[in-house]
Amino acid sequence: MTDKARIAVMVSGTGTNLQALIDAQNSGLIEKGEIVLVISNREGAYALERAHKAGIEAFTISRKASGGQEGFEEACCELIDSRNIDLIVLAGFLMILSKDFVTRYDHKIINIHPSLIPSFCGDGFYGLKPHIAALERGVKVTGATVHYVNEIADGGEIIAQKAVNVEEGDTPEILQRRVMEQAEWLILPVAVAKICRKIVKERHGKL
Ligand code: GAR
Repeated sequence: MTDKARIAVMVSGTGTNLQALIDAQNSGLIEKGEIVLVISNREGAYALERAHKAGIEAFTISRKASGGQEGFEEACCELIDSRNIDLIVLAGFLMILSKDFVTRYDHKIINIHPSLIPSFCGDGFYGLKPHIAALERGVKVTGATVHYVNEIADGGEIIAQKAVNVEEGDTPEILQRRVMEQAEWLILPVAVAKICRKIVKERHGKL
């Protein structure tokens, strides 16, 4: 029996958070987890290239080609269940998953969000949008949050947060990059490592 938790990462775009997880796996930080599956809802997402380079099985499942949200989620479930996934990480995954999907994997899905929840989060706040809103509101501190995913968008139990300063003259792009460098790429791998250790410990406890 493997002593590692099997991780699936769901992505939509560039995949810098996926890369942070791959690097953390290679450096030994995620010593009790292994990324075995990457699912992108966008064809041609650069995250897929990162998965291929790391030798991780990767698939594109588009909502449109699957006939809508239900078909998309069914196809994801088939893949996830057939690979015996223990933990699903939404790393720059920009679709909202249905209540059925998140309930099926209760406390098995985590997400990285680019703000300090409960600020600048929920439906419509993704990618650059939380940073645009933070600058418009004039906050002096923002950051990133890792949380469990439940049926409320960005509403699940908070696992980790890290604050990042907003600087004079920031554009949304500059702020996004700082939040990634100083928060997202650090707290997501640490949270995944911690959850994987817990999964493996509980598995051994049940033997
Ligand atoms: C990241 O900033 C991530 O936190 C955000 O999208 C970006 C994806 O970057 N996610 C959300 O907004 C989810 N609501 P990446 O593809 O380079 O990891």
